[in-house]
Amino acid sequence: MAIGVQSAEIQEHFNKLFTSILLEQQKYDHIKPADEDKKELLASKLKEYEQLKGRGFFYQFMASGKGHGPFVEMIDGSIKYDLINGIGVNLLGHSHPIYIKANLEAATSDTMMTGNLLSYQEPYELSKVLIEAVKKSPLRHFWFSCSGSFANDTALKILWQKKAPNYRLIAFQKSFAGRSIAMQDVTYNPAYREGMPNSIPVDHVPHYNYQDPNNALKNTLQALDNLIKNNGNIYCAITIELIQGEAGFIFGTKEYYTGIFKWAKAHGLYVWIDEVQSFARTHQLFAYQMFGLDKYVDIVTVGKVLQACGTFYSEELNPKPGLIAGTFNGSVASMNAGKAIVRYLLEGNFYGENGRIKELENKFKDHFHRLSTSSCKGKIPYYGGVGTMLSFEVGDASLELTNKFMKKLFENGIITFSAGKEPTRIRFLLPLALLDEHIQEIFSILEKTILEVI
Ligand SMILES: Cc1ncc(COP(=O)(O)O)c(C=O)c1O
Repeated sequence: MAIGVQSAEIQEHFNKLFTSILLEQQKYDHIKPADEDKKELLASKLKEYEQLKGRGFFYQFMASGKGHGPFVEMIDGSIKYDLINGIGVNLLGHSHPIYIKANLEAATSDTMMTGNLLSYQEPYELSKVLIEAVKKSPLRHFWFSCSGSFANDTALKILWQKKAPNYRLIAFQKSFAGRSIAMQDVTYNPAYREGMPNSIPVDHVPHYNYQDPNNALKNTLQALDNLIKNNGNIYCAITIELIQGEAGFIFGTKEYYTGIFKWAKAHGLYVWIDEVQSFARTHQLFAYQMFGLDKYVDIVTVGKVLQACGTFYSEELNPKPGLIAGTFNGSVASMNAGKAIVRYLLEGNFYGENGRIKELENKFKDHFHRLSTSSCKGKIPYYGGVGTMLSFEVGDASLELTNKFMKKLFENGIITFSAGKEPTRIRFLLPLALLDEHIQEIFSILEKTILEVI
């Protein structure tokens, strides 16, 4: 512990608290139905919260702050497998020692949030760890933001300043870039910007077509060429999620991405990769590293698993003073956790072909193969994905049926979320804390639910 106030007494309390909290949290290690006497509490709190928010929730879910590994408890006492973890935030699993420690350490500090004007040690140390992790690429700087959307806005501003007046951007169909005024235009789904004025110029080209892999690159390059032919080269950059999260995990190959990035460089466009969802979840810390694309990346955005958000950029893209700033970097606890998470992941056996993430992916795919060729034959038309980003379809993969299925799955003890439209997929953003016995149980519940609903 190197931050905030320190003394032998604090250290002693710290050690005791850390142990007691972990021991208490570890009790939440199996699924269980709601307590009869607490059902009403959950229903009434959610109803009130829905009033406050002005809209309903998809799941009857309000967490109690208790949970361990893949398990999370709700305020009605029910415990479920959390396989979506806050849309991809808790990669390490609930009440991971790193989270507990980061919070306790932050409590010894004199502040809650760190910011840009008067710096603290935590953002400095996290930046060092992050820049070290990207040293094989041209990325040299990291700037904090308080959301993935704002990290993307920062990326766009940096690119615009460098390429002014070439403000037009190339993005991909089915992409998701966030909810800010700029990012709602980069995001492909028009339903997410209903009633909004068009604020930034973006053209969307097709992403990798996994149903026609032989022509995927040719078709994307053709669409890119057409843009330049029709509009002239008025573009600043190409932005892409290598693994499209909200689309249900659509991703291409190294050759596909290399072809696109070579095209971008040949036309003087910067390569901006959105890793807000994919960061830390594939076979390397960054998906661009997994695909061996280090030399092409000019700007990369991250969030979620890091517990903080931000933008990496090259020396060439370092913006002029005044362009990017803001009050907050993030909380002391999140900076602290971010540093420990990156170190833990890089020092542990998580990445590479023999790493834990690949092993987890293989186990899930083996179970899906078994189910889809036996008891659930014809009911799982698709399963796939990479690393801890896996998805599958059930029945006709319609939105209606998929929603019904997910709600039943929730009732039966597993939390997931959907992605994509026609087909709609059920998405897992898996925590690393899954043991074989958990995976067995998860697939028994999946099998039971598929047979109940489909
Ligand atoms: C690829 C991608 N980019 C950007 C964002 C936006 O991040 P945030 O919700 O933190 O603003 C998300 C969020 O899901 C995302 O998946």
